[in-house]
Amino acid sequence: MKKKIVILPGDGIGKEVTAEGKKVLEKIGEVFGHEFTFEEAEIGHDAIEATGNPLPDETLIKLKNCDAILFGAVGHPKYDNDPTLKVRPEQGLLKMRKELGLYANLRPIKLFDELLEASSIKPEILKGSDILFFRELTGDVYFGEKGRKDEGKTAYDLMIYQKYEIERIAHKAFKSAQTRGKKVTSVDKANVLESSRLWREVVNEVSKQYPDVKLEHQFIDAAAMKLIQNPKSFDVVLTGNLFGDILTDEASQIAGSMGMLASASIGDTVGLYEPIHGSAHDITGKGIANPLASILSVALMLDISFGLKTEADAVISAVEQTLRDGWRTTDIADGKTASNKVLNTQKMGDTVISKLTKNTEAINMTALNTATYIASTSIH
Ligand code: IPM
Ligand code: MG
Repeated sequence: MKKKIVILPGDGIGKEVTAEGKKVLEKIGEVFGHEFTFEEAEIGHDAIEATGNPLPDETLIKLKNCDAILFGAVGHPKYDNDPTLKVRPEQGLLKMRKELGLYANLRPIKLFDELLEASSIKPEILKGSDILFFRELTGDVYFGEKGRKDEGKTAYDLMIYQKYEIERIAHKAFKSAQTRGKKVTSVDKANVLESSRLWREVVNEVSKQYPDVKLEHQFIDAAAMKLIQNPKSFDVVLTGNLFGDILTDEASQIAGSMGMLASASIGDTVGLYEPIHGSAHDITGKGIANPLASILSVALMLDISFGLKTEADAVISAVEQTLRDGWRTTDIADGKTASNKVLNTQKMGDTVISKLTKNTEAINMTALNTATYIASTSIH
């Protein structure tokens, strides 16, 4: 198989982790006989510095002409406390999502058994958790009209949803639930927000086409609580852009660390794969970032964009094997981890690669395989 992949390292640790993701793709190409070619492009803070634009046209053209995108992160501390800066790294990411029509953001939350102790949540509450988030990605308050008035003393961001935007992601969530635990939890704030009342109405309507899937509704505040109280009670979670952003960071604790969570953004054309963690400038350049979220994003790419299930399984089982052998980055090390088992970013990447083999059956995949990791085949 021949595929053209654009690597968008972006800012901060984005560069460090995508380098490892790329190495994994190269090794997969070698082991399974695929021809992956790579092109790099700029986005975020570095793109602003170089061109004045967080998503230069040159980047966008490359993105529209490739088979899949591996993205790192965007963001820079310089912008965080300075609202006067009008051109911001995050705008590059948002524009990219919109321009490429990436309306469905899939965030699988699945705990590798080896990391039961890495989370701040009790192991008995966590064990067996397996949640797939469908976060709507191109609507909501992220893209509604925003601005200032009254000489800057009033600010507004319009929370807005259109019926078709809710319908198309709801269908994806229900189809996916049919292949998993047959349950969708739709999260909104319909007791207060009109946009949430439309959300609920449309989700109810769509659910009639999926009688085998149980639908429940939860308010965002209650869902945030239940996610930690009883993560096993969730299967597929369907929610809007803002609520999904918040809930998935919270849910990362169910998978042990933000450094473990991969995501896929899909729509009608090309797919984009990225860790859910950000640019993490506090650890940038130290070589300690966890590359596993980027590597697991590669697994999602192989599965969802290229239909290469065996190859995706090989990546996931290599990660599992690495963890089973006790290798950790600092974020997933616990009190019992010996210091010689704590690896830097590159060594973690190398260790995963050393375990990549064609023979996935040789590895006892207890915790994961792509079928349970994402059950994606039917949703693309
Ligand atoms: C994410 C991030 C982005 C978002 C930021 C960087 C704009 O937090 O992908 O979850 O809010 O969508
Ligand atoms: Mg986020």
